[in-house]
Amino acid sequence: MTLIIDGKRIAAEVKDELVDRIAALKQGGVVPGLAVIIVGENPASRSYVRMKGRMCADLGLNSWTHELPASISEEDLLDMIDRLNRDPAVHGILCQLPVPDHIDENKVISAIDPEKDVDGFHPVSMGRILIGDPGFRPATPAGIQELLVRSGIETSGKHVVVVGRSNIVGKPIAAMLVQKASGANATVTICHSRTRDLPSFTRQADILIAAIGRPHFITADMVKEGAVVIDVGTNRVDDPTAKRGYRLTGDVDFDAVKGRCKAITPSPGGVGPMTIIMLMSNTVLAAERARSK
Ligand code: GUN
Repeated sequence: MTLIIDGKRIAAEVKDELVDRIAALKQGGVVPGLAVIIVGENPASRSYVRMKGRMCADLGLNSWTHELPASISEEDLLDMIDRLNRDPAVHGILCQLPVPDHIDENKVISAIDPEKDVDGFHPVSMGRILIGDPGFRPATPAGIQELLVRSGIETSGKHVVVVGRSNIVGKPIAAMLVQKASGANATVTICHSRTRDLPSFTRQADILIAAIGRPHFITADMVKEGAVVIDVGTNRVDDPTAKRGYRLTGDVDFDAVKGRCKAITPSPGGVGPMTIIMLMSNTVLAAERARSK
């Protein structure tokens, strides 16, 4: 029997645990606050930002969404980040990516105070992950790690193959799972678009993490019998029968792959729901740290 890892259920579990921590902060007069900046009109970005705002409201966190026109200058955006860095009511800051081409994404990320970097994208956060220093784990990799741990999937000594080398998912999840730490201790291989004979790597995976951004890229012949498959993809594909004209689907050909594996995340309904709750978790952590300073 294949275990279908239910991201919604596990996210609800994490959410319940956050409720007590938020209540404790509020008792001390602190309401965790998240500032979200969005530049331009990207529909997927707008939808993610809306979901983040709703989840903050649901948990009783403060949130502020700053919607900026695509024409905003880099300087004005950096000024806004500087103001948020200095605002004590703001514990977490994120700028939804991508930003328009005239703005340097790395400059924007680096402008955020690392103590408020709840996305975990700042070079300081990335460095901390690499050396195993507790800091903000980026939300999607953190969600993957929680899914594995809370599903009782052993990572120690296992061969994890990550397909995708993005700064948001591939590189940080690889750095996290290779650490000498519980929920880690894996042997990790990172594959990417230039990897030669990709299936020869993916077939070695005890745990296969697909973070490519291409619908149904991972087919049954690429998966070892008994593997655990984590699908990070949420791709929009045209679907005239759907109300919105599209549906979301993963990087893994779920129906073909699921029979071969020990456990698999669906997409949607796997990693996605974890990502947003781990962002909330980082925001609460940021508030706890600010209070104990
Ligand atoms: N764009 C896609 N994923 C993310 C994310 O997790 N955070 C931000 N800021 N932008 C994104």
